[in-house]
Amino acid sequence: MSITVTPTHPGFVAEISDIDLAAPLPPADRDAIEAAINRYAVVVFHSQKLDDEKQIAFASAFGPVESSAAKLRQRDIKHRLASSQIADISNLDADGNVLAADARRRLDWLANRLWHTDASFRRVPGALSMLYAHIVPDEGGETEFADMRAAYDALSEASKHDLEGLVAEHSIWRSREQLGVVTYSEEERAALPPVPQRVVRTHPGSHRKTLYIASHASHILGRPVADGRLMLMDLIEHATQPKFVHAHRWQQGDLVIWDNRCTMHRARPFDTTKMRDLRRVTTRDVASTLEQAA
Ligand code: OGA
Ligand code: MN
Repeated sequence: MSITVTPTHPGFVAEISDIDLAAPLPPADRDAIEAAINRYAVVVFHSQKLDDEKQIAFASAFGPVESSAAKLRQRDIKHRLASSQIADISNLDADGNVLAADARRRLDWLANRLWHTDASFRRVPGALSMLYAHIVPDEGGETEFADMRAAYDALSEASKHDLEGLVAEHSIWRSREQLGVVTYSEEERAALPPVPQRVVRTHPGSHRKTLYIASHASHILGRPVADGRLMLMDLIEHATQPKFVHAHRWQQGDLVIWDNRCTMHRARPFDTTKMRDLRRVTTRDVASTLEQAA
């Protein structure tokens, strides 16, 4: 039986059913999933049963798996998950207990509440993120997604013209700084230096133009920092109007894939004294956006 794709948002989200992601992936299903991602940008699978190895194996069918940046910037703590290919998106410590309010990893993780796209702060950024739900709270903790191709299409011709050729500097420290989280050592900072990325890029899977911005984007190269920041703030505000946004309400066993090249996302609040255990595997893009089509 082949997969079934059911759109759940008019622009950019679909559910995929009739597939067990823990089983070996037939090439035809792989290709059909990739086509759905290229069309919709966010795809949701329910009732899956994945362990870390199976999640990594599934992701590997779609590209090289990125190693998590968390271990580069939190060198002084014990990490809960053994594999460097899994990003720990939980609020749990290495012993499985809920993180204390002032725990360093919790403060770092809170930056997921800002609109962003994964690993835009790496020279070769993230492509597909695959987030799997082990434990979810009863209330809150949704993930919201914004459709950056639709947001680009809706810009005026004059704005599209103004954005042509612009390059933003992205840095993970910029998103943390916005929340006043600045307790990183020089060594940690040096491991993830700022990188340039195009503000508008062509999404390779659909050949549509898309905005490529995030809370990691600091300013526009060649312009005063303040002007660049205001421009990026205005673009994020434009792109996150309700008509471009979809909220995913998690159920245990959900796997959600999003294409970082043409979406932004953010976590919504929940009672962080309750457990939420989500784990993410992300594939790497083919090159810096500067080496890809504008
Ligand atoms: C992520 C992320 C949001 C969430 O996994 O990259 O930003 O809702 N997650 O946990
Ligand atoms: Mn993220």
